Amino acid sequence: MKKMDLSKARVLTGVKPTEAPHVGNYIGAIRPAIELAAQAAESYLFIADYHALNIIRDAKELKDYTYLVAASWLALGLDPSRTVFYRQSDIPEIFEITTILSAVTPKGLMNRAHAYKAATDKNKEAGKTGNDVDLGINMGLYTYPILMAADILAPRGTVVPVGKDQIQHVEMTRDIAGSFNHLFGDVLALPDFYVQESTGLLPGIDGQKMSKSYGNHVPVFMDSKQRRKLVMKIVTDSKQPDEPKDPDDSIIYQLYCHFATDAEKAEMRRGFEEGGMGYGDAKKLLFEAIERDLEEPSKLYNELLADRPKIDKWLEEGAEKARETAQKTLHDMRHVIGLS
Ligand code: ADP
Ligand code: TRP
Repeated sequence: MKKMDLSKARVLTGVKPTEAPHVGNYIGAIRPAIELAAQAAESYLFIADYHALNIIRDAKELKDYTYLVAASWLALGLDPSRTVFYRQSDIPEIFEITTILSAVTPKGLMNRAHAYKAATDKNKEAGKTGNDVDLGINMGLYTYPILMAADILAPRGTVVPVGKDQIQHVEMTRDIAGSFNHLFGDVLALPDFYVQESTGLLPGIDGQKMSKSYGNHVPVFMDSKQRRKLVMKIVTDSKQPDEPKDPDDSIIYQLYCHFATDAEKAEMRRGFEEGGMGYGDAKKLLFEAIERDLEEPSKLYNELLADRPKIDKWLEEGAEKARETAQKTLHDMRHVIGLS
């Protein structure tokens, strides 16, 4: 893990309300971000609903995912009395700041953004675009990094925890803020990205990296019976219970390590190495450990989803606080560019 002094940091991150989290997201991103928020002087977490609009074209779906993501984070430990928790769309200053930043952002910088390049590469590979490599790509995807820069710069986030795929966007934020400051004076705070290295990637039930795109994921919030069925489907070799096995080769053991106590881990390890631990028993232990870890959050999640006004209240209170800083940033930016 990269060492960083968080005692003065304003940790800030955003989540797109596009998918329900899986246990890989929980262990690899949500839990570390919540732990980081607890150590930081200040923390901001927001739901990036205008980023999701690039993908979601259904009003009910966007609304439902917003509550689902909010309830997931709250149920998994986000404390709205410590962390400023809000919807991106409730902070209008972000969008005015996006317009200002667009004027100092080179188009070529956007051409180099990974997500845009991946989309044009896909078009080129498909070979059916004629001369139009931009087929089906909207401006929201193209200018995504500018909106993300405004998200970070408006409330003056200084440390931005992200997955590796988002590092480039934080670097672009620094470039864009640097251009603005160079042209108009030192108004914007340059953020640092923060990548949690130590967790490692959780495997999915087929052994590849757990990912929604591979369909091998175990959702964080789901019916217990369904979860048991999923855990029972984890791929294994055909070794018999009494045969010795390498625990580090086992998907079951790798997942178990994230949910079991040290003593439980040692016991499964010994069982595998010495023989005597069959895959069926190991899956049962894994299922029980996951259930234990998620029992309380699941209850809370269901309660929260049944009480949307409560979620709204927290998000509105958070937006009020986030707007105070965003208004100040926008005011300073307008002043130095010559607008009253
Ligand atoms: P997916 O691959 O399912 O689409 P995302 O790319 O949306 O997941 O992941 C969001 C964040 O969750 C990532 O940036 C990463 O930090 C974390 N994450 C995703 N999959 C895993 C995994 N299998 N193990 C650990 N962390 C993961
Ligand atoms: N782009 C991020 C993602 O796809 C979400 C996001 C939007 C974000 N704005 C942000 C993350 C600002 C950190 C800071 O996961």
